[in-house]
Amino acid sequence: MTNEEIVFIEENRASGNSWSEVAKVYSEKYVPISGEALRSKFRREIKKLDDTVGEGLLAKAIRIVRREPITSIDLARKLCLDYDQLDELLVEMQEARAAIKWKDGYLIWDAMAGKPEDGITKLSFETDGGWLRFGLLSDTHSCSIYEMPEAVNELYDTFESEGVSCVLHTGDITDGIGHVFKGQLSELKIFGVDKQLDYTNYTYPCKPFKTYILAGNHDDDAYKTCGVDVVKNLCDKRDDFEYVGRYGAYIETNGIKFYLLHGDGGIPVAISYKPQKLIDTFKVIPDVTVMGHWHTFLHLPKYRGTTCILPGCTQRQTEYMRRKCLNPNIGGVVLSVKIADIGGVSKIVKHYAEFIDLEHLA
Ligand SMILES: [Fe+2]
Ligand SMILES: [Fe+2]
Repeated sequence: MTNEEIVFIEENRASGNSWSEVAKVYSEKYVPISGEALRSKFRREIKKLDDTVGEGLLAKAIRIVRREPITSIDLARKLCLDYDQLDELLVEMQEARAAIKWKDGYLIWDAMAGKPEDGITKLSFETDGGWLRFGLLSDTHSCSIYEMPEAVNELYDTFESEGVSCVLHTGDITDGIGHVFKGQLSELKIFGVDKQLDYTNYTYPCKPFKTYILAGNHDDDAYKTCGVDVVKNLCDKRDDFEYVGRYGAYIETNGIKFYLLHGDGGIPVAISYKPQKLIDTFKVIPDVTVMGHWHTFLHLPKYRGTTCILPGCTQRQTEYMRRKCLNPNIGGVVLSVKIADIGGVSKIVKHYAEFIDLEHLA
């Protein structure tokens, strides 16, 4: 029943007409119905309206999900939405409230979820004729005997000369304190959380732009062992570092959404396999997805509507990689995006992901 029909019935009832009289005029204007059937239908609709009256569409939808789990189809029925409107609403809902999640095909309200602003870092930069440049790197593994501080320095020099607005680091800035795998202590050159923090702070380049950084599984070693988030601690020590989260974080800038992720597990035979599987699970599709952890370079120009980049690493081939016949890609990426306003929405209309190959330093 549409709002117009409801108003029509209400006005007729308000003027003193009985249900059969209202049904008669209603049947002429809309669909034939008896007085009794119209009364029941009207009551059902009014009950439904309790959920849907007032406020904007987003507020109504959130209120419905808060009350009880609901499928997207039922939500669309309740709010009289077509497929495109529903699609748009689902994205808006999940962006608005981190507590809205999917479980077994239902939209649910997870009261334990953090506030949405916990997971989103909002930035804004001045563009160069619509162009923005970002430095991307990952897995720098400070304190490892295989680390390559000279490569990190060269990357940051390149980022600076390319005029990047900021750098996005997708985790494993440190190698961990010795518990990531059996025998890891033999691959460390600096021991203890405090010493590793000082060493990383001292050796990591400092530039006039910020580095937004995630904690990866190696950084998490200290967190799991003794509750210290080394990346957060490092960010507290430096003005040019900003902590964005553990393992995953959204960054929005100039209307463009990035998702940073530190992956898990070994490198698959087909490098794109795990990134694609991860993107398959996304409910909110970012414009650009940057993934660390696998120490390889990959550029998927468009998969499920997102541009996916694995920026490589600055850690030489480790003993583990050698035994697995794996070679890391040493380097980072300069990502240039051209942003245009299309119908009031910022869109990437062109992008170049240039891999800075530093294999010669390995
Ligand atoms: Fe790593
Ligand atoms: Fe990792």
